[in-house]
Amino acid sequence: MMISITPLGYAAGAEVTGVDFTQPLDNSTRDTLYSAWLKHIVLVFKGAEQLTPEQHIAFSRNFGKLDGHESQVPETLYPGLPEILLITTKPIQGKPSSSRNAGRNWHTDLSYSTRPAKGALLLCKEKPEVGSDTLFANHYLSYETLSPTMRAFLDPLECVHDATLIKGIEKRDPAHVAEMKRRNPPVIHPLVRVHPETGRKSLLVNERISGIVGLTDEEGTMLLRFLNQHATAQEFIYRHRWSVGDIVLWDNRCTSHIALADFDTNQARLMLRCSLEGEVVSGRLAERVEAESKESLLQAIAAAA
Ligand code: SIN
Repeated sequence: MMISITPLGYAAGAEVTGVDFTQPLDNSTRDTLYSAWLKHIVLVFKGAEQLTPEQHIAFSRNFGKLDGHESQVPETLYPGLPEILLITTKPIQGKPSSSRNAGRNWHTDLSYSTRPAKGALLLCKEKPEVGSDTLFANHYLSYETLSPTMRAFLDPLECVHDATLIKGIEKRDPAHVAEMKRRNPPVIHPLVRVHPETGRKSLLVNERISGIVGLTDEEGTMLLRFLNQHATAQEFIYRHRWSVGDIVLWDNRCTSHIALADFDTNQARLMLRCSLEGEVVSGRLAERVEAESKESLLQAIAAAA
C-alpha cells in the first residue's frame, strides 16, 4: 500500500492513509510514520473500527514503550489489558465511569506524575451523534512566539503539577479520587522543556498547575493565566472531529489537549487509549518539602533547590 500524509492544519495534524495497522509494520513504513509524527505532532488514521485491543496495543508499540497506567485507578483500565485506558461515558461494572468526564481542562497527559507520557494513541469505538471533539495545542509555537525577553525569564522556571486540578474530579467516585491522590502527589516540572528528539523547546503549561516555584501565589497565578491563554490561542490549535474508527496519535512532549464536553453526555462515547511511556523522569515530588500553605510551599521548594 502507498502511504500518503496530508496536512490538516498549520499548527498540527496530518491524515495518514495507506497503512495496514492490523499487521506488523516494516522498518521503512515505521520510520516514515515516526518522522511524520515528529513533524506534524498529531497524526490521524481512519478506518480502524475493527481493530482488536491486541492490535491497537501492537500498533501503538511502533511509537514507543507502552505505559502500564500505574498512575490510574484499575477500574478505568481495559479488563486484562492495563496498556489500554478506557475513556467512556458508559457505565463500568454497573457504576458511573470515573473517566466519563476525563480531559475536560487543558492538560498534558500524566504531567501530574514524574514521567509525563511521550504520546498516546486514542481509538474511537463509539461516539455521540454530534460533537465530543478533542483540541490539541502546539506548544512549540506558543514558546517560539514569545519575546526573547519573556523566553529568557521563563526558561529556568519550574511549576507544581497537581492531579487534584483535573476538572470535575470531585464528581468522581470518592474512593477513586483518594486513590488518584495517593498515586499522584504534586510534582515539579520545568516550565520550558526540550523535546528529546527534535531538540526544540516548548512550554509545559496547562490547567493542572497550581503554582510557579519561587513566585508568589499572585504572580504565579497571573503568569499562568497569561501562558495558558497564549498557549491555547486558536492559531496554535488542531481540532479533531471524531468518526468511529479514527486513531489519533499525538506527541505529548510538545502539546496539551482538551476533550470538549460539546455533546449530549447521556450518549455513549467510548475511547480506548494506549499511552506511550515518557522516556525520562523529568519531575520530582513536591511533597518532600514541608510547607503550611501553597504560598510558603512555592517559596520553600525554591529555597530547597
Ligand atoms: C485524553 O485526554 O487523553 C482523552 C481525550 C478525549 O477523550 O478526547
